[in-house]
Amino acid sequence: MSLTDRCNLRCSYCMPAEGLDWLPDDSVLTDDEVVRLVRIGVERLGIREVRFTGGEPLVRRGLVDIVRRTAALAPAPEVSLTTNALGLARVAGALAEAGLARINVSLDTVRADTFATITRRDRLKDVVAGLEAAQAAGLGPIKVNAVLLRGVNDDQAVELLGWCLERGYELRFIEQMPLDAQHAWQRDQMVTAEEILERLAAAYDLVPASEPRGSAPAELWSVDGGVGTVGVIASVSRPFCGDCDRVRLTADGQVRNCLFARQESDLRDALRAGATDEEIADRWVTAMVGKAPGHGIEDPTFLQPDRPMSAIGG
Ligand code: GTP
Ligand code: 5AD
Ligand code: SF4
Repeated sequence: MSLTDRCNLRCSYCMPAEGLDWLPDDSVLTDDEVVRLVRIGVERLGIREVRFTGGEPLVRRGLVDIVRRTAALAPAPEVSLTTNALGLARVAGALAEAGLARINVSLDTVRADTFATITRRDRLKDVVAGLEAAQAAGLGPIKVNAVLLRGVNDDQAVELLGWCLERGYELRFIEQMPLDAQHAWQRDQMVTAEEILERLAAAYDLVPASEPRGSAPAELWSVDGGVGTVGVIASVSRPFCGDCDRVRLTADGQVRNCLFARQESDLRDALRAGATDEEIADRWVTAMVGKAPGHGIEDPTFLQPDRPMSAIGG
């Protein structure tokens, strides 16, 4: 569930330096509307895990309260957050106390200059402080998501893994996907899972994890006989669409049955027109029935969705 399309970073693989035309306030779901939709998903559709995303979910004022109300639903879902961690140092304790179980933090480099190049903001220290506060608050296991960009940070994979292993964070590398607002993604520029694993294997002993992967996007490896785990989310080169059991809700109340869906189904209009829980659940289920068998990124006819990643939620 994306809580806002706004963000306080400007990652080059996500959006342009000047930002985007953000959703107007009145089209964004209110806190009550967010909690009602999540409740319908939990009570009627069997949803067991709720992940809040953005843009950057920490910029949403009501976040702690939304987490508290979501964690209190029955049956209680696992509540998690995907965040860039700016400002997390201040609220990690309150989030944990409200019932947040764990967080995934986006961090592509541990060098301040590379961080500023990628995100166009000089905020590495705030991210590190956020991670430390999350750990102190007992939000865990903490996962770190990294995107490698050719010629920018693709030579830093081993360094980033070493840094995460020292701190007990589970690092996952994500293949760059055609979800940037600028539509600049190029398949031949993407750093592939194969390349990432080759780089890591030069410095670490990697053994495929023994536990079944299920519907998780990450393939996992045990590092150096168990000192930690590293993952690769190979969305493009080794798609996992057949096992995907996710549904996405945008900040303006649209259901997307895939990151790459070409269509959305409007739940906000139904909410605001006074629809019952049952009617909203029916509309939501109908939206899922149209889910495509795969994202088709490698097909010559592939078309990037109109909304960028920042407006869909990671
Ligand atoms: P946990 O493993 O439960 O912590 O969640 P997660 O890995 O799904 O969470 P996160 O939001 O951190 O997702 C990491 C990245 O995986 C996303 O940003 C996407 O890049 C990728 N991803 C997640 N779900 C999908 C999906 O349905 N399709 C594709 N192609 N990529 C996905
Ligand atoms: N391709 C792959 N990952 C992306 N992310 C943002 N844009 C892209 C993209 N085009 C990552 C962020 C964050 C997660 C939600 O998705 O870095 O970790
Ligand atoms: Fe913000 Fe995430 Fe996009 Fe970076 S990738 S600009 S942190 S929404």
